[in-house]
Amino acid sequence: MKSAGILFVLIPICFILFSCRETKVKEEKLPDEMEQTILKMAQSYFSPLSDPDLKNMSPERKKMTGLGKKLFYDKILSGEQKINCASCHDIKNYGAGKLPVSKGNKDQLGFRNPPSIINAYMQYSQNWDAKYKNVEDQLIAMIFSKTEMGMTDTLELLNRLSKDPLYVKAFSEAFPGSNPSITLQTLKQAVGSFLRTLTSPSRFDVFLKGDTDALTSKEKTGLKSFMENGCVPCHSSPLVGGSMAQKFAVFGYYWDFTNSKTRDKGRYELTKNPADEYIFKVPQLRNIEKTYPYFHDGSVETLEEAIRIMGLTEAKPATE
Ligand code: HEC
Ligand code: HEC
Repeated sequence: MKSAGILFVLIPICFILFSCRETKVKEEKLPDEMEQTILKMAQSYFSPLSDPDLKNMSPERKKMTGLGKKLFYDKILSGEQKINCASCHDIKNYGAGKLPVSKGNKDQLGFRNPPSIINAYMQYSQNWDAKYKNVEDQLIAMIFSKTEMGMTDTLELLNRLSKDPLYVKAFSEAFPGSNPSITLQTLKQAVGSFLRTLTSPSRFDVFLKGDTDALTSKEKTGLKSFMENGCVPCHSSPLVGGSMAQKFAVFGYYWDFTNSKTRDKGRYELTKNPADEYIFKVPQLRNIEKTYPYFHDGSVETLEEAIRIMGLTEAKPATE
């Protein structure tokens, strides 16, 4: 998680949207004045990620987080006990799924791409259709979802955990005030506590805090073009997204661009309100170069293509 985070999106945008050629000369420093203008502009749209203060975590929170991490990697949470959270949200893969759509409890395919869980807790809501208000509600839904972990019975889940002496000890230490300590509520809190430690501050944040040398000239030029060409009305805030839901696509139907095999109506599937047709959460663009494939159905393999589609379907065309 040491890369420049979202920055790799900013390089291609220069090439894809404006067909500018990669210069053969090595990095030339941008004029100071321009660097300051880019910085000021960036500070008005984005804000640096705050690091969770892991070192100063209370002992209780540490125990809760450790337990949450153990649960995250335990297949005990799935119906057939064959998959864990990491099967679809591998932290080594920047917390996102590599298959276009998820492969669930009985190897069945779902219909959406597992988004990254890194930084996810900071979003205004969870799920591609913004269905859940926080990561805790989301993770419970994951456990009991037929397409994901496929647990059907709360009691069975709690029994499984209660039969394991390690869990009995870990839950009672993490939740000394609750009796019984193994409940859906404490499980939710523990895994949530772990998810709330996952952030990926990068050079982009160092830049936003005022150090213009933290980014290369090419990255700064890409950032400028990202801000000047209609991406920031939707992709802003600390996560460069994750703060609202919008229609995919504003111009045309998204599948004409993505060649998606399915038609997903987004929030409409929840609300049945025609105004919600094709409304999806604007995803975060942190670590975007690593979290392929793209879009809610994983229909697009490369970042260049995803950016090209965004330029055609969402952002105000550069020629206007
Ligand atoms: C079988 C694959 C699979 C498993 C296992 C799985 N997830 Fe997910 N996860 C998904 C998919 C797919 C979505 C998006 C669902 C949607 O939008 O309809 C998702 C969404 C999420 C989100 C929301 C992220 C965002 O940006 O909106 C979080 C948080 C999350 N999962 C956490 C977990 C946790 C914690 C576990 C384990 C308890 C888990 N998931 C298990 C596939 C999976
Ligand atoms: C009107 C709002 C809006 C604008 C403007 C916009 N986007 Fe998006 N963007 C979205 C939405 C909504 C999605 C999710 C679409 C889906 O998968 O259903 C998205 C998805 C993406 C993705 C894929 C993310 C992922 O995890 O799969 C990338 C990359 C992206 N946008 C880049 C850009 C760039 C670059 C621009 C400017 C050229 C831009 N966007 C302009 C709303 C917008």
